[in-house]
Amino acid sequence: AAQFFKGGPLAGKHALVTAGPTFEPIDPVRGITNRSSGRQGYAIAGALAKLGARVTLVSGPVALPTPIGVDRIDVETARDMLAACQAALPADVGVFVAAVADWRIDEVFGTKLKKDKGGPPALTFVENPDILATLSASGPRRPKLVIGFAAETNDVEAHARAKLARKGCDWIIANDVTEPGVMGGDENAVLLISKDRTERWTRAAKDSVARDLAQRIAQDLTASLS
Ligand code: CTP
Ligand code: CA
Repeated sequence: AAQFFKGGPLAGKHALVTAGPTFEPIDPVRGITNRSSGRQGYAIAGALAKLGARVTLVSGPVALPTPIGVDRIDVETARDMLAACQAALPADVGVFVAAVADWRIDEVFGTKLKKDKGGPPALTFVENPDILATLSASGPRRPKLVIGFAAETNDVEAHARAKLARKGCDWIIANDVTEPGVMGGDENAVLLISKDRTERWTRAAKDSVARDLAQRIAQDLTASLS
């Protein structure tokens, strides 16, 4: 799409954002997925576009309109999401907000499973590629700033800090999904975790968190003078 917002601190920059769940088929009519409304990721994509970035949003199945000025690529599976992200490179910043299914069914059934055929099916799973870790380790094609998300239910900071190290990303935005109103809701209470510090952001609307994060991204990309 043509650039809608001209100028701004992110003019000339390309931002890659993943959002929503992935959907991993079991048979032609069934599958497994993760809980994700896509709201936080869509808000971030929109906020980055407003600051002048060219934004590629790689989205799992969600019921949301495409933010103004954003190029959206729809995918279903984790493997398709990874391929779409790799095809979108190079990017100055990658923001990996998607709730990617950690596992997929190893052999998808070509025809609908029937419940009268010998009881419930025994499904076997294989691990999906890690999109964030793969792009963090993509050498010269690595976005300058790589940001992961972590939805945790306990020991939020410790789990998120471990994730930062494991994934090789620059920042982790962590949230406690047991907080009422966060999962599927309009608000988020996040921690921004980088190698040398932890910031605790006050609880705010997802749009407001997105605007603040976009500003921080702009500061970081323009400070590094590259
Ligand atoms: N992520 C990804 N690809 C995957 C799994 C996760 O890109 N296959 C990204 C998410 O988009 C998020 C970050 O990695 O930015 C953390 O996801 P999370 O599910 O919290 O991490 P996991 O390593 O899958 O650990 P867990 O066992 O807690 O699910
Ligand atoms: Ca996971």
